Amino acid sequence: MDEDNFDIFELKKNFLTCTPLEKIKFPKKLTAERQKVILDEIITDCLVQKYPVKNNYRRNFLRLVIERLENDNEEINDELYEFFCSYLSAADSPMHYRHFLINSNQRVIIKESKSIISDGTTGLCSWQAAEVLAEWCLANKTELTGKSLVELGSGVGLTGLTILKTCRPRSYTFTDCHPRVLNLLEENIKLNTDINHEDPENLDADVQVVDLAWESIDQHKEANWMSPDLILAADVVYDSSLFPSLINAIDVLLNQENSYAIIGITVRNEDTLGTFLTQLDKHKLMHDELAVPTYKMFSPPCTPVKVIKITR
Ligand SMILES: C[S@@+](CC[C@H](N)C(=O)[O-])C[C@H]1O[C@@H](n2cnc3c(N)ncnc32)[C@H](O)[C@@H]1O
Repeated sequence: MDEDNFDIFELKKNFLTCTPLEKIKFPKKLTAERQKVILDEIITDCLVQKYPVKNNYRRNFLRLVIERLENDNEEINDELYEFFCSYLSAADSPMHYRHFLINSNQRVIIKESKSIISDGTTGLCSWQAAEVLAEWCLANKTELTGKSLVELGSGVGLTGLTILKTCRPRSYTFTDCHPRVLNLLEENIKLNTDINHEDPENLDADVQVVDLAWESIDQHKEANWMSPDLILAADVVYDSSLFPSLINAIDVLLNQENSYAIIGITVRNEDTLGTFLTQLDKHKLMHDELAVPTYKMFSPPCTPVKVIKITR
């Protein structure tokens, strides 16, 4: 970063995850050199061209850049202006991509829906608890390396794909119960395998996607993934009518001597969390709140997220 806060990696990270523009720190001066860096590093990044972020986001991002340049009487880079005009005429699509940078060479790309609920499910977009859980895993990767992991309610796969890229588990079983979510999850796994195909650390674990509704966990008793070392789940604690089947699924999966579950819970309502913890107690499952990680790959969540460890 230079003395005027021009941190292109941070700016790119924010752009690629569609961070609200009011939260982004733009440099005071957008000189011709800086505009060229924004053009080369962000706008024409080849993976961004192939897997674009939300059209109205990139349009508003460049609108803000251009407004600042006009206010400062700075000359506007022609190519940046042309991109802005092309975004003005481009149609908004119901699906878009977000890129989560691990470092300057590696990223996880997630295709997701623009709407938080569509097709009767919350699973077609990634939620902040998925980011917090992934950040916790990054900070505690030695607990995951070489282990067999099962994730409940994986949604579009952000937590699992980050873990596969950074923590070297032995196996990773993504699960969900909604057909469109499962299709999109498969698509995201393939996309991230393809973009990382030259990376020796690329998804070398045994990866599978399973259609698992918590209510029907008993139908999977013979499956090879039913005895994991570690169970993960993000943002699955929101509807108390689902708690009995969710807690039973966790209990059934906690069948190894040292196995445990790590759950990222967005605290939208303290009573809902209280009900979940009481039901864990009734099920004789122990729970501890873990320290939330320092945010490195992801941004801190807007709504508080707790990380809970569950053991038998
Ligand atoms: C709020 S989304 C969270 C998705 C993802 N973990 C994330 O944090 O981005 C909840 C997920 O749980 C799944 N889900 C809800 N009820 C379920 C059930 N009874 N059995 C299995 N999965 C379920 C949904 O399909 C959805 O993908």
